Amino acid sequence: MSIKHLLGLEHLPVETITKILDTAGPMKQIISRDLKKVPTLRGKAVATVFYEPSTRTRLSFELAAKYLSADTVGLATASSSVVKGETLIDTARTVAAMGVDVIVLRHPMSGAAELMTRYTDAYVVNAGDGMHEHPTQALLDMFTILESKNRISGLKVAILGDILHSRVARSNIWGLTKLGAEVHVAGPPTMLPAGLEQLGVRVYDRPEAALEGADVVMALRLQLERQRQGLIPSLREYARLYGLNAERLALTKDDAVVLHPGPMNRGVEITAEVADGSRSLITDQVTNGVAVRMACLYLMTVGDASREDID
Ligand code: CP
Repeated sequence: MSIKHLLGLEHLPVETITKILDTAGPMKQIISRDLKKVPTLRGKAVATVFYEPSTRTRLSFELAAKYLSADTVGLATASSSVVKGETLIDTARTVAAMGVDVIVLRHPMSGAAELMTRYTDAYVVNAGDGMHEHPTQALLDMFTILESKNRISGLKVAILGDILHSRVARSNIWGLTKLGAEVHVAGPPTMLPAGLEQLGVRVYDRPEAALEGADVVMALRLQLERQRQGLIPSLREYARLYGLNAERLALTKDDAVVLHPGPMNRGVEITAEVADGSRSLITDQVTNGVAVRMACLYLMTVGDASREDID
């Protein structure tokens, strides 16, 4: 199996999602070794092109490519010809013309990664496009859940917070429901997009209702950079009414685990006590991000043909 572009989970077949998650296991073994290097992608080139800030996604894609022996280049658009007015399409053509095999793109416009696929022969990975999708984040979230619970089907997953602006929520909803999870979402009414139920999730405006008996809780970052005025009364009110704290976590199952895609607004959508507590898998998510992105790069550029190379 090979994947050409990775733009989102909405149209990705279940078999492909499962293949990526299965491949991430052996990849994680590689990054736990002293010598974290295999020759699988030797001769391939990966470019990260980020029009928005990132710590986790950008560094983990670069490390994933390096651990697989690909050459990497990174374009921080603030110090590139984008500031001179170069368009996304011209930038895509320019990067691809240098022989890059995979472009990992983060962009504030929904659909930017799909647009890029029309103007370049390089494979494109969507590393977050506006409020649309962030597929590799959802894949690493699902891999982390699988590691902890050994299954996704039948689990109750509560997603809390700023659903409206969250590409992480959208990708997780597509992925988790495809794999059979029961997804419950809760947030302020101003941050619950219309028609959410049509995606196969249950929607609440109180976090307590979503958390009752949950196996997994995912707290979302309040996306202050995408907020319009007046969506919440104040950060303090938001934390009091919707934040994940120890009292609310007690509503979940005793063995429920906590995820957050990062970066966290500590004391807003999640308390430090919960973020750093024994149920938190937030650091595991970061580690698993490297393994899942290695799996994606591998399946995109090599596929199954040289499976033995990754051992
Ligand atoms: N979760 C996530 O996308 O984090 P970064 O913005 O740091 O990449």
